[in-house]
Amino acid sequence: MELTTEIKKYLDRSVLCWLATSSQDAIPNVSPKEIFTHYKEDCIIIANIASPQTVINIKNNNNVCVSFVDVLVQKGFQLKGKAVIIKKNEPEFDEIEPLLLEMTKGVFPFSSVLKITIDQSKEILAPRYLFYPNTTEEEQIERAKKAYNL
Ligand SMILES: Cc1cc2nc3c(=O)[nH]c(=O)nc-3n(C[C@H](O)[C@H](O)[C@H](O)COP(=O)(O)O)c2cc1C
Repeated sequence: MELTTEIKKYLDRSVLCWLATSSQDAIPNVSPKEIFTHYKEDCIIIANIASPQTVINIKNNNNVCVSFVDVLVQKGFQLKGKAVIIKKNEPEFDEIEPLLLEMTKGVFPFSSVLKITIDQSKEILAPRYLFYPNTTEEEQIERAKKAYNL
């Protein structure tokens, strides 16, 4: 599916995403990634800096799920799709690398990237937005700042 403007906005605003994979024998694995962005109309790319179990799992089972929220606004998305690992010697790596290097500033080396083609999306909302529909984003930001002692 094509990533909407709203999904791209939350991808840009979210500091971390959480990538879930599953092993061959169905053991779930979730780990955080901060070097990620949208790519083309329907993909997310993530730098593989230090994610050995994620890579093993994707080689055996390419179904993945990635979640991210703006921690202050407390909204985000859960996306599901199929992942591939693209290594340095492959042509697509040269196209993707600069987009992620812009984020690492070259400080963290990576020689492969994860490319996820998204086929499902679901909005994530803090329960307050559902139970108290008059809640504004500004109020929620203030609540989150207090909760995080910011
Ligand atoms: C704040 C934060 C950001 C991280 N960003 C990334 C990242 O962008 N890419 C990556 O490969 N690892 C990243 N990591 C490291 C992995 O999450 C960590 O090495 C994890 O143990 C990998 O587990 P896995 O092999 O099960 O995927 C990050 C960790 C933290 C705490």
